[in-house]
Amino acid sequence: MNNLFKATLAACLLTFSAVNIQAADLPIKITKKYLNFPISQSQKRAVMQFTVGGKKERTFNIRLANGEPEYWVFYDVSSFKGKTVTISYQGDNAGLLKIYQDDKIAGQDSMYNEKNRPQYHFTTRRGWINDPNGLIFFEGEYHMFYQHNPFEKEWENMSWGHAASKDMIHWQELAVALDPDDSGTMFSGSAVIDYDNTAGFNKGKTPAMVVTYTVDGHGKQVQSMAYSVDKGRTFTKYSGNPLIDSKEKWNSQDTRDPRVFWYAPGKHWVLVLNERDGHSIYNSSNLKDWKYQSHTTGFWECPDLFELPIDGDKTKTKWVMYGASNTYMIGSFDGKKFTPESGKHFFSSGTIYAAQTFTNIPESDGRRIQIGWARLSHSGMPFNGMMLLPTQLTLKTTKDGVRLFSSPIKETEQLFEKVGQWSNLKEVEANEKLKEFNITDRLRVKATIKLSHATSAGLGFNGQNLLDYDMSANLVNGRFYSPEEMTSMEITVDCYIDRTSAEMFIDNGAYSYSLQRKNGGRNNEGYKFWGNNIEVKNLEIYKVKSIWE
Ligand code: FRU
Repeated sequence: MNNLFKATLAACLLTFSAVNIQAADLPIKITKKYLNFPISQSQKRAVMQFTVGGKKERTFNIRLANGEPEYWVFYDVSSFKGKTVTISYQGDNAGLLKIYQDDKIAGQDSMYNEKNRPQYHFTTRRGWINDPNGLIFFEGEYHMFYQHNPFEKEWENMSWGHAASKDMIHWQELAVALDPDDSGTMFSGSAVIDYDNTAGFNKGKTPAMVVTYTVDGHGKQVQSMAYSVDKGRTFTKYSGNPLIDSKEKWNSQDTRDPRVFWYAPGKHWVLVLNERDGHSIYNSSNLKDWKYQSHTTGFWECPDLFELPIDGDKTKTKWVMYGASNTYMIGSFDGKKFTPESGKHFFSSGTIYAAQTFTNIPESDGRRIQIGWARLSHSGMPFNGMMLLPTQLTLKTTKDGVRLFSSPIKETEQLFEKVGQWSNLKEVEANEKLKEFNITDRLRVKATIKLSHATSAGLGFNGQNLLDYDMSANLVNGRFYSPEEMTSMEITVDCYIDRTSAEMFIDNGAYSYSLQRKNGGRNNEGYKFWGNNIEVKNLEIYKVKSIWE
């Protein structure tokens, strides 16, 4: 912190203490990229406000440390460069003295190398993340917006964080895309590209990226929109917001998470909205005026709805509707109404929640790619939550009918280097092969286990069951799973192990789950296959690159 700034602040605080006012104002002329803030979870949240030229620019809650900070957070203030930002704080202002501006984030030099930072899953630099929002491909870039609290590692101040990537594996975190405003905080939503300028926001030949999201505030949740004509770097909120206010109709505050897509056969936009007990369909020609059409009960939060070919045959398709818990129905859709034909099913469980699929993936690619939020934390870290690996969703015919499968996208392959492959190993031999990897913090292990004279078997690490297959009750890590071949004594698992998590894909993606790794574990036995007389029919071990190097 420079001395002049310190002196100004001290004078400022002195003035206030002399007249015994709790709140303090701190003017800072912005010359650098970031403001860094000291945080302590044991402090109460209090309101902080940025005012620029007499205009309220940002209001949020923050737990400013009044003593030794537990960790630091930052806010990108480059858009205020050259201007004076006056910071006011309604809490204990002892910490105001420690706020400083810099071109570096506090702790930047060890960024992505911190002890418990996942090495091949996206996490935010600082703060909290939950749902992926507005997943979209546009002009060579994949965009991932997400529910974000930049000011604390817990849920609060919901904003849209933003990261961009060329391959959905290596991400660059960008400035916050949508900040809370007087109308409320920015809840989940989706993004489209308005190629035909139906909303009138396009700039010359540049089509607008239009995001539709929920605003939570004033005792209700309404749907609003914003647009960007600079590849998602900055957004302008539409002056005619909100677009949908359905609180009274549903007698509920729970109306949220608009999922918008273009319905080509009917040449109109579709918005799927979670309203109370399920997902409603709305239609529009201009992304602004929405008309209610229908409702499917049985879902909660974060809708998605998309068409997929069955067994890769584009002439045979079905629609999939799902909600935040990753349960889904399969059915048909005519642009106005989803008609369920089977379900509800689930294909994924564990830490996954609020997953969303990408829009605007080129037709030549044609994949339906999903990213889910992993509800897990990273001990001692200044950030929380994680995004799971992007997966490709497909519909396959199984003995039970058509079902969703998910597998990590092919772009993940660049991360893995195969160090060995073996077949027909006894359990002890397989454990021996894994031994040298007990000290690595990330690994991919693919294995096919054959159970003979065993009703259960699995793979553990330091006593934590990554895979626990109970063949008599047909449970995989506690959830019902029946293999395609009912009397099969085999299970195949592809484990993606990172510092704080494990993602497990069973039988080529028929079922998947993710879990928080219990670092430390119950013992020190390392990787261990277990089960009476089992055979590891196939074992593949892969080293994993970091995405941050
Ligand atoms: C799901 C959810 C959404 C909501 C968002 C708020 O995790 O509750 O329904 O929009 O999180 O952060």
